[in-house]
Amino acid sequence: MSPETLAQTSPTIAPVPVPTSEFDRAEFDRYVMSTYARFPLTLARGAGCRVWDTDGREYLDFVAGIATCTLGHAHPVMVEAVHQQIQTLHHVSNLYYTPQQGELAQWLVEHSCADRAFFCNSGAEANEGAIKLARKYAHTVLGIQSPIIITAHASFHGRTLATITATGQPKYQKNFDPLMPGFYYVPYNDLTAIESAIALLDSNEPQVAAIMLEALQGEGGVRPGDQSYFQRIREICTEKGILLILDEVQVGMGRTGQYWGYENLGIEPDIFTSAKGLGGGIPIGALLCKSFCDVFQPGDHASTFGGNPFACAVGLAVCRTLEESRLLENVQQRGEQLRAGLRSIAERYPHQVAEVRGWGLINGLVLNADAEITSSQVVGAAIEAGVLLVPAGLKVVRFVPPLIVSAAEIDQALAAVEKAFAVLSK
Ligand SMILES: Cc1ncc(COP(=O)(O)O)c(C=O)c1O
Repeated sequence: MSPETLAQTSPTIAPVPVPTSEFDRAEFDRYVMSTYARFPLTLARGAGCRVWDTDGREYLDFVAGIATCTLGHAHPVMVEAVHQQIQTLHHVSNLYYTPQQGELAQWLVEHSCADRAFFCNSGAEANEGAIKLARKYAHTVLGIQSPIIITAHASFHGRTLATITATGQPKYQKNFDPLMPGFYYVPYNDLTAIESAIALLDSNEPQVAAIMLEALQGEGGVRPGDQSYFQRIREICTEKGILLILDEVQVGMGRTGQYWGYENLGIEPDIFTSAKGLGGGIPIGALLCKSFCDVFQPGDHASTFGGNPFACAVGLAVCRTLEESRLLENVQQRGEQLRAGLRSIAERYPHQVAEVRGWGLINGLVLNADAEITSSQVVGAAIEAGVLLVPAGLKVVRFVPPLIVSAAEIDQALAAVEKAFAVLSK
């Protein structure tokens, strides 16, 4: 089936009325800790690239659970995988072998540069695993006693203590110190800065154990990596024998039009991490590595839920659908269509919009630094116009629809964004 056909025939979107519940947002806030600034919207149902709120109003979902719902909502393949596995075997722990974990690892290895996989439940947890693996490699192979991992300004690697430390954004670290030792930050896409940092850190004795980067910075403002920068970093890591870790949590699993973000840069990492799109919305994360740096031994790392048959069966269904339905082609074509449409909106609103950037179906509409509007205001106006979008910082509006999105849905979203700008410009 061509991606075009698949997108048009993907889950039937029947405008079934959603029962209006007695849901009260104030009651919700009374019981749930307020760690999120939520938009005033209560969602009840989804199908394909659409969701409905509790009043039955329909929205195009160009957030997809923040680049997570690879196949959209209620995709028949996911529904089938969930049903099948929950009635067969859903969880037994890693004390035993389960076929689904092995099959998912095999798919990932056969469709990437990695040789081995470890499964966990989220992006932060996958990155924690990568940090531990790099530290053990430093101690046992490189002979470095206090290993340092270089990461980038404006990066995002998760919300655990190690991953907020790896994240080069002070706003995520404030009030959570003492942070973890062993991290050093450099500006992204700046070769001179990283070369100077390595020279400085290694001036007395080798300390740099790894470089950890996103192929495209998602949360940091949809900022694609430069090919020449990443290719030189690859060379530096190889020359020094240190590890190149890529965080593929947001950009992996087809989102950029390639299976993995690093394929856009013409390089291979030694270690990379995945989560978000891997389970299509069912929690799963993975740490993948080449065999030369697979220094973990029994007892080194573990996760109770990690790689259970339920999550792996769904992950496998998502991976196979990505491949068999040739969704990468759809991502490339729809991505081009979306960027072209956003660029013509940018031309009509030159005072507000500075730039459109991204790869495949992860794209950012960058607002002018001196424009009065913020990304949250654009997202608010877009919700009113019927499309869900997500900010990536104060001035970037992110578009990350399900990878099954159709040409008609892209056009509909563009019309809604145009409407949002018209309202905001009044
Ligand atoms: C690049 C990247 N790494 C890590 C994470 C953290 O993933 P999780 O929220 O699943 O822990 C995110 C989440 O946005 C991400 O974008």
